[in-house]
Amino acid sequence: MRARTLPGTTITAPNVVLGLMRIAQRSDEQIRELVAAAREVGIDFFDHADIYGGAPHACERRFGEALRLSSAEREQVTIQSKCGIVPDGPYFDFSSAHIVDSVHGSLAALGTDYLDLLLLHRPDALVEPDEVARAFDELAAAGKVRYFGVSNHTPAQIELLRASLDQPLVVNQLQLSLPHAPMVAQGLAANMTGLDQSLQRDGGVLDYCRLHQITVQAWSPFQAGQGRGVFLGSPDYPELNAVIDRLAAGYGVAPEAIATAWITRHPAQMQVVLGTTTPARVRAAAEGSDLPLTRPEWYELARAAGHHVP
Ligand SMILES: NC(=O)c1ccc[n+]([C@@H]2O[C@H](COP(=O)([O-])OP(=O)(O)OC[C@H]3O[C@@H](n4cnc5c(N)ncnc54)[C@H](OP(=O)(O)O)[C@@H]3O)[C@@H](O)[C@H]2O)c1
Repeated sequence: MRARTLPGTTITAPNVVLGLMRIAQRSDEQIRELVAAAREVGIDFFDHADIYGGAPHACERRFGEALRLSSAEREQVTIQSKCGIVPDGPYFDFSSAHIVDSVHGSLAALGTDYLDLLLLHRPDALVEPDEVARAFDELAAAGKVRYFGVSNHTPAQIELLRASLDQPLVVNQLQLSLPHAPMVAQGLAANMTGLDQSLQRDGGVLDYCRLHQITVQAWSPFQAGQGRGVFLGSPDYPELNAVIDRLAAGYGVAPEAIATAWITRHPAQMQVVLGTTTPARVRAAAEGSDLPLTRPEWYELARAAGHHVP
């Protein structure tokens, strides 16, 4: 498993991590098996959010109840959570009170005294950066959150926050998979006419994050995007799956490893956030952590996923 110190932190983090968005209905034993499978392949970094699981903090609570980490065990793992989405609406709330309350709920549910990372989950149009700064100052001073980041934010939204914050924003978690890759594919078709791909929708977020040492975390790495389900093995993606399967056979790995490697091979040093609840799929994807896809292979995958490579 490839790992590095996350820029702006002292955290050594693997480039494949486990998201726990889908564990609400899993038993304690299943959660322990999933986490054990992750730990065995070097994944000691776990992604949560206050909203995962339907009821507030439901998945965080399942994780906390199943693992009951001792303080020594807690120190061996990195726990990240998110706040700012209010599902009952839905709407977004980056007020100081909401952020602080959410973190308190996360800590209680997870059974821990601190979060290693807290991300603002989705942009709040009504954001007042000084309110965010007040919450971050309070949480940092109390030792309840070590580092901060965002998710689904554009460069300008990050700049707006940065102007008020004392803490660096070290992570931006964004949707990215082979078929859903606008932030990667746009640059390939820049300044071309007649192509949807050439439209920049994200303010150049990938290059911005690279320039500012903000680690991009790729969420839903196996989903086609826009609610179209999993692309691996799907008859809707015959060309892509043919290339994935051929490369998987050549490297002697599972298809999940190739889909993971397309992201880890990118020089932005992104982290892939897996969402599977199947231990075998965690092991399979982890094999993509350091798979040296060649340039021709990487571009062939991009083309097979439907992106225009002029
Ligand atoms: N920041 C955000 O806005 C945001 C949004 C969504 C998610 N996330 C984070 O990203 C994580 C991953 O999201 P995700 O769950 O949508 O990602 P994913 O890893 O792309 O999808 C996992 C889902 O696909 C299923 N699946 C079916 N076939 C699969 C295969 N061959 N390989 C892998 N999975 C297969 C899994 O089922 P099984 O469980 O049965 O294996 C699981 O339901 C979440 O846990 C969460 O932490 C963040």
